[in-house]
Amino acid sequence: MKLKGCIFDLDGVIVDTARYHSLAWKRLADQLKIHFSEEDNERLKGVSRMDSLDIILEIGNMRLNEELRKEYASLKNRWYIEYISRMTPDEILPGSLEFIKELKEAGIKVAIGSASKNTPLILERVGMENLFDAVADGNRISKAKPDPEVFLTAAKMLGIEPVRIAVFEDAVAGVRAALNAGMICIGVGSSGILSEAHSVIPGLNKINLKKLEKIVKLSGYE
Ligand code: BG6
Ligand code: MG
Repeated sequence: MKLKGCIFDLDGVIVDTARYHSLAWKRLADQLKIHFSEEDNERLKGVSRMDSLDIILEIGNMRLNEELRKEYASLKNRWYIEYISRMTPDEILPGSLEFIKELKEAGIKVAIGSASKNTPLILERVGMENLFDAVADGNRISKAKPDPEVFLTAAKMLGIEPVRIAVFEDAVAGVRAALNAGMICIGVGSSGILSEAHSVIPGLNKINLKKLEKIVKLSGYE
């Protein structure tokens, strides 16, 4: 098959915002007096804002009414926005820009597929607001990863069939969403955690178009 498009998750793949999410959730957990470990934090990656809050409340064995849940989720988001508002293009993860430019020069369309409602702000802060052919984010979708909605939306916006698309993801829920969409998936991070992906790379500085085409071929997508 000929690869026609690539979809990138944003948080943890293109930019290191995963640490800002983590800082803001930790601050909220401390306020609620809930102990929140590194492993717990892994469970929040790729998961929507409300679902992340529910995971933290579950860890703390705490139940809150709808109104308070919304209040705490927006408190976390206010803190998160404080952190990301100070972001600069220096926080683009190594290799991202070079790889995306290589794909575009080869005529491969590129899109963002992120659960985050803060996607437009982040892209603007790091100077990537005009780089992508399509941006599918948390403002456009209603079903969180591992549901394939965000990636299928991006595919539709690009006008490309899912089987001709490769997704780059750092979260287990995101890898599952890509596979559920019928796309090839490259995990970005640790192969121990992202073992369900077709292939795993430590970061976008470890891939180029030639290597990607090889992965596509080996995955039996041809
Ligand atoms: C994902 C992150 O990209 O977006 C999650 O991996 C986050 O950690 C989710 O909860 C929603 O983000 P936001 O910015 O809309 O709260
Ligand atoms: Mg991510």
